[in-house]
Amino acid sequence: MLRHSAKPASSPLPSAVTVIEVIQRSAEFLARKGVDSPRLQAELLLAQVLKLPRMQLYLDFQRQLTPAEADHLRELIQRRGRREPLQHILGTTCFCGLEMAVNRHVLVPRPETELLAEAGWEFLRQLTPGDSGPRAVLDFGTGSGCLAVTLAVKCPDVHVTATDVSPDALAVAAQNAARHGVSDRIEFRESDGFAALPAGANFDLILSNPPYIPTLEIDTLQPEVRDFDPRAALDGGPDGLKFHRLLAGQATAFLAAGGRLMLELGDGQAAAVRESFEAENWIVEAIRPDYNQRLRIMIARRD
Ligand SMILES: C[S@@+](CC[C@H](N)C(=O)[O-])C[C@H]1O[C@@H](n2cnc3c(N)ncnc32)[C@H](O)[C@@H]1O
Repeated sequence: MLRHSAKPASSPLPSAVTVIEVIQRSAEFLARKGVDSPRLQAELLLAQVLKLPRMQLYLDFQRQLTPAEADHLRELIQRRGRREPLQHILGTTCFCGLEMAVNRHVLVPRPETELLAEAGWEFLRQLTPGDSGPRAVLDFGTGSGCLAVTLAVKCPDVHVTATDVSPDALAVAAQNAARHGVSDRIEFRESDGFAALPAGANFDLILSNPPYIPTLEIDTLQPEVRDFDPRAALDGGPDGLKFHRLLAGQATAFLAAGGRLMLELGDGQAAAVRESFEAENWIVEAIRPDYNQRLRIMIARRD
């Protein structure tokens, strides 16, 4: 007779297993599939299935999984084995300490982008309150809304306009704004570049993590990125700098006096990005390193 536990030959898990056994077997399976940090990934997926904090697993190593739990975990481990990002499987990620929903319509926010958010809120906090209403921020290419939502949470007196060419991404961003109670201070606009911004719109801070991967490099990236992040979130044109040039040329019209433009850029792009901005008469104030000491965050002004 077939027991409930009958499973395809490729399955990473046997039927009746304890917590410690599934962790070991799942980690081995994920390692064979080329997944980084396989044991951690297995633990996080198991914690999701058991609805426990990950550290609790260590207190429950001999607990036996129910058949339903084992089936659920098997499905998640197989997805991860196909290199679907952990964040897509969990449905969320953490950005600047805030939980953000993510799915295949948005770039999974990266740790280095937290440095851009931090530079943004440091700048906003030292501005004196405006005479003519709240300070205005533009998040160009908002994706999951991680930057827009974080700035609205960290700086309760700012109003954010968040744009993206993808309506599906804007839907995720709006969900994240609602999750963090800042929907009333973020205006979402579907826009190709600056096209949908009203003439005369003026921002104290424009920040963007634009697409910056050179088109032909996308297929060389790890499967989690290449196959699951939206192409439109990655593709920066032939040399990766299409959006930096667009911002250098067009952001001036939307920047308030004394304002700042803050951008993320790819490893090795700092000199070329600086050159594009200086050619358009920007003053490049700083290009800051990421956690690996690579120059990744540019801060520029007009005056
Ligand atoms: C690298 S992702 C950044 C997402 C998010 N801000 C973050 O830091 O995680 C770039 C975003 O720019 C958007 N985008 C691509 N082309 C665009 C365009 N022509 N106009 C506006 N947004 C665009 C993409 O849809 C994507 O959401």
